[in-house]
Amino acid sequence: MTAGAVAIVLAAGSGERLGRVEPKAFLDVAGSPMVVRAAEAAAACPAVGSLVVAVPRGHEGTARAIVAPGKPVVVVSGGISRHASVRAALAAVPDRASFIVCHDAARPFASPQQFVLVLGALEVNPDAAGAIPVVPVTDTVKRVRGGFVVRTEGSREELTLAQTPQAFRASALRDAHTRAAQAEREFSDDAAALEWAGYRVAAVAGDPDNFKITTPEDLALAELFAAERAHG
Ligand code: C5P
Repeated sequence: MTAGAVAIVLAAGSGERLGRVEPKAFLDVAGSPMVVRAAEAAAACPAVGSLVVAVPRGHEGTARAIVAPGKPVVVVSGGISRHASVRAALAAVPDRASFIVCHDAARPFASPQQFVLVLGALEVNPDAAGAIPVVPVTDTVKRVRGGFVVRTEGSREELTLAQTPQAFRASALRDAHTRAAQAEREFSDDAAALEWAGYRVAAVAGDPDNFKITTPEDLALAELFAAERAHG
């Protein structure tokens, strides 16, 4: 039923926190740029019919040359925030698309199965407008302000960390982003925009291997992880 879903790949972030001049998504992990790996994982999900890839302005040509996952790809210029990049990508998603799955290129180890899982969750939960993968929090979470603990976030069994890919009914995703833009609100993931707009978001089991690359240490870990995987 979700056949023909469009995957949005967010790859328009900078390499600043990695201490690099090149945009993060264009850095290699085990010989392939992260944006290529992310697009290939999305395209390997049978329900995904086409992709929209948001890249930093000036890198559109490179992206068109290297992102070729075997399904149609549209490359757009991203914005100054992740939220703005999603809006730019949404403008390139055909109106007929019923489902959209958003994925961060900064997670180069997402499996095609994660895309299948989140899109499938929308089929079995008709009242859910979105479905996201989450992993449990194993540490105790403290809110710290000005160098002091102000609160311990309770009910650890209810606390989770959100990952991408995140799947949405296209109408809800468009509506949440339009309303957030009108209210001048920005969110760090798309599910947060839907929650704020009053939509129900289902949570499915995430994958600890699908970690996000933010720091130089994450990149080094990613190389080790990929090498270990390659050697079985
Ligand atoms: O910076 P961070 O890793 O949190 O970004 C999450 C994802 O959002 C990355 O894949 C990044 O490329 C993307 N992004 C974007 N446009 C921005 C900022 C981030 O597409 N302006």
